[in-house]
Amino acid sequence: MLGVLSALMNDGAFDFSAYPHRHLLGIEGLSPVAISLLLDRADSFVELNRRHDNKLATLSGRTVMNLFFEDSTRTRTSFELAGKRLSADVINMSVSTSSIKKGETVVDTAMTLNAMHPDVLVVRHNDAGAVKLLAEKVNCAVINAGDGRHEHPTQALLDALTIRRRKGKIQGLQVAICGDILHSRVARSNIHLLNAMGARVRVIAPKTLIPAGIERLGVEVFHEMGAGLKDCDIVMMLRLQTERMKGNFFPSVREYFHFFGLDYAKLENAKPDALIMHPGPMNRGVEIASDVADDIGRSAIREQVEMGVAVRMACLEVLCANLSAEGSSQ
Ligand code: NCD
Repeated sequence: MLGVLSALMNDGAFDFSAYPHRHLLGIEGLSPVAISLLLDRADSFVELNRRHDNKLATLSGRTVMNLFFEDSTRTRTSFELAGKRLSADVINMSVSTSSIKKGETVVDTAMTLNAMHPDVLVVRHNDAGAVKLLAEKVNCAVINAGDGRHEHPTQALLDALTIRRRKGKIQGLQVAICGDILHSRVARSNIHLLNAMGARVRVIAPKTLIPAGIERLGVEVFHEMGAGLKDCDIVMMLRLQTERMKGNFFPSVREYFHFFGLDYAKLENAKPDALIMHPGPMNRGVEIASDVADDIGRSAIREQVEMGVAVRMACLEVLCANLSAEGSSQ
């Protein structure tokens, strides 16, 4: 049934049953086939998004609610645009004016929204696991837009799409993720995705910014940029997430940049065509030098933002198609 309905929702080229899940809560546990479906579908939206007449009717009549308990500029806007491109009604819940301020719990808020029958809830929360908890209580589809330091699946997907388009593949690439790994949901989702798709992942950071036991996720750990970047195809930089830090994790910004900030001298160690990436927001002169970040030939940072919209369109479309299939089989 799923296959037939799926075919009705797209031009038949994509089999949405390859993603057999109601929600998108994390990359961990997704099959390479499910990941590839989302990437392939997203890729098909990229050209469309570059046109002026870029609206599709696919999600007409569907409601997407953005529920952000944590500040966000690009992720929230990107989901909003993705929903609108597909003609969904998109509602942004501003948490600062919501009942949360009046003491309502996350679950109560979700139940209230659920009563308005959204099709998809896009949720960001500062506690790891909060989005999964919420997903268990509602009967719509839920997308995790970042939960604490746990996962940020659509970021990893957009990173993967950027890499795949630039390098033609993911399999076999050597990827270095550098910076504040300890507090980063982006790093965790990327590690799961890149491993699932056959890349080799290294993490580079001071000892204080590497979570204990990270090797178990299948990464190589480095504490020095020169050795860590050696012959890498992809250099992914991360922000120091000071809002999550309790205590001192590095002596000073100046010293941090000296040892771990990406500049041309350190980049020399990577392959000559290594791609520079950053999920944003960037702190220029802290984890990355401005000239490197703006290097049009080598930096894919703006492209990552562009791929974000395409990836989120694919996620919204696939989850809604699965909801339709569920409804019709009941
Ligand atoms: C990331 C996040 O929120 O986890 N940003 C994003 O989604 N673009 C990374 C960060 O905040 O440093």
